[in-house]
Amino acid sequence: MNSAKNAPQAAKLTPNLGLKHRNSFGLDSTAEFAYEITSSDQLPSLVRELEDKKLPWRTLGGGSNVILPEFLSGATLLINILGQELIRSDEENTWLSVGAGVNWHELVAWTLEHDLPGLENLALIPGTVGAAPIQNIGAYGVEVGEYIDSIEAFDSVAHAFVTLPQEACRFAYRDSYFKQHPNRYIVTKVVFKIPKTWQARLQYADLAKQFIESNSKPSAKQIFDAVCAIRSKKLPDPKVIGNAGSFFQNPIVGNDQYEQLLKQFPNLVSYPDTTGQRKLAAGWLIDQCGFKGKRVGSVGVYENQALVLVNHGGGTSNDVLNLAKSIQGAVLGKFSVQLEIEPNILR
Ligand code: EPU
Repeated sequence: MNSAKNAPQAAKLTPNLGLKHRNSFGLDSTAEFAYEITSSDQLPSLVRELEDKKLPWRTLGGGSNVILPEFLSGATLLINILGQELIRSDEENTWLSVGAGVNWHELVAWTLEHDLPGLENLALIPGTVGAAPIQNIGAYGVEVGEYIDSIEAFDSVAHAFVTLPQEACRFAYRDSYFKQHPNRYIVTKVVFKIPKTWQARLQYADLAKQFIESNSKPSAKQIFDAVCAIRSKKLPDPKVIGNAGSFFQNPIVGNDQYEQLLKQFPNLVSYPDTTGQRKLAAGWLIDQCGFKGKRVGSVGVYENQALVLVNHGGGTSNDVLNLAKSIQGAVLGKFSVQLEIEPNILR
């Protein structure tokens, strides 16, 4: 009797749920069986049930980094696990535990309101906390992995909850252990470790430029506001025009290839990479191929940033992927560089 009383409430099932308003690209997509996950306790029995029924499944967070097909057969798990709490503090750090379904930008704003600066360079990135570590979101010289202490996830192979410390998450540029093992782990909670000593991170020229005229050092809140302003100017608001942020990763090339390219294209935009190689600005490569602002039917390339593909309304995943293919072909032809698609293509 007690076990019935303590059993978690089953995840809410909605058959044939339209996902157009649950993906930032605004693609028309229907989930055959959508389950809303509000508590991690719901996962063990649900995953078992889906396996018994031989139903394929995948998770969906904020839908800001995915390309959805018109029909998602099987189960789609909508991760809506909320809650955030300060769990520990010592002289050097504060630890914060956050549910995977919490909105990323709202978390960043909350940390600043609670005098926990550190995440401000990552303001206004769309999506959820649980999705952030998968692609190790990054902007303006900061990557989320630096601030992650550990991640709690349900391991669908071991059928058990696991806690992965930062080292096990293998964070790299737009990459992680979770991204390398798609559909194995369901992230339920992220524990952040925020150092108490704070320093402005202004190595990114676009951001530093904002503070050049004022002599005083900017506060975390001023950096937050500046990042929001830069992003709003450069990147389309998904509520107005569908998009998934950068559509391609900035490609990393070896030094020989870089030197070769630089001879041919002296204006090539690139940065030193942490691995000692060279990271090229994919937006520049695409721009040079004449794609900026180009429209192909319902989809196109954003007019202010060639790295962002947009849905002008009514576009499908095929339209987006065909445009991506022609961009990849043009960049490969002109620069001999292969662009890799950044968002997850769900099937
Ligand atoms: N550029 C062009 N034409 C363009 C776009 C860019 O010439 O149309 C050149 C410019 O010279 C610019 C350089 O490319 O200085 C780099 O562009 P930008 O500063 O806009 O940054 P990015 O490399 O395009 C990356 C991230 C963004 C992140 C910004 C800021 C990737 C794939 N993208 O973009 O992340 O916000 O840096 O740090 O690493 C995202 O992942 O969705 C995303 C928006």
